[in-house]
Amino acid sequence: MRLRRARYSLERQKRKNNIGMPRQKAIIIGVTASIAIYKACDIVRRLKEEAFSVSVVMTQEAGALISPVVFQSLSQNKVYRGLFDSPDAWEIEHVSLAEKADLVLVAPATANIIGKIASGICDDLLTCIICATKAPVLISPAMNENMYKNKITQANIGKLKALGYRFIEPKKGRLACGKIGLGCLAEVEAIVKEVKNNL
Ligand SMILES: Cc1cc2nc3c(=O)[nH]c(=O)nc-3n(C[C@H](O)[C@H](O)[C@H](O)COP(=O)(O)O)c2cc1C
Repeated sequence: MRLRRARYSLERQKRKNNIGMPRQKAIIIGVTASIAIYKACDIVRRLKEEAFSVSVVMTQEAGALISPVVFQSLSQNKVYRGLFDSPDAWEIEHVSLAEKADLVLVAPATANIIGKIASGICDDLLTCIICATKAPVLISPAMNENMYKNKITQANIGKLKALGYRFIEPKKGRLACGKIGLGCLAEVEAIVKEVKNNL
């Protein structure tokens, strides 16, 4: 009886610590300062439901739109913000996160972050991770139609596509300005599907 109980408790411990289980795929979600940021909450929630390990990296401006605590609760993980925040251990955070990622998803992606990635700018944690990672990078833009159709934005997207970055096209819908136009973040389910397809 005691032996059975010990075995049962060992099995429970193993399950709890994922011992002997396949490693959870690690997704980094870069969250930027688009009005569509509230939809990123649902993306994190859905990816957790799919049993991924989710780490959220927010830009400084994204933190002005929504509290990091929301993403911390939904991802059940630390939320990463600043390049120079004290790391958990001796590790250099942008390098360790870039290496542990199986996929980096930027959703919602602003015109600004797309421009920075396309130009190789590395002035914050998210752009450094994207520059350092060898994992696939999926970008889901969300912005005003004029910003999306702007020739510079389109040239940046074209350049990134040619370099192997993958895009989840925005859809037509009611934009933050009240007009109907192209630039709404893709549906959450379409984003989750693309994440799974790209792993
Ligand atoms: C309320 C509000 C909503 C915004 N929504 C968007 C948006 O949907 N898409 C976008 O590209 N920029 C948007 N912006 C502008 C970006 O926040 C701005 O370009 C910012 O510098 C982006 O920083 P980040 O890319 O580092 O997060 C918005 C700004 C504000 C104040």
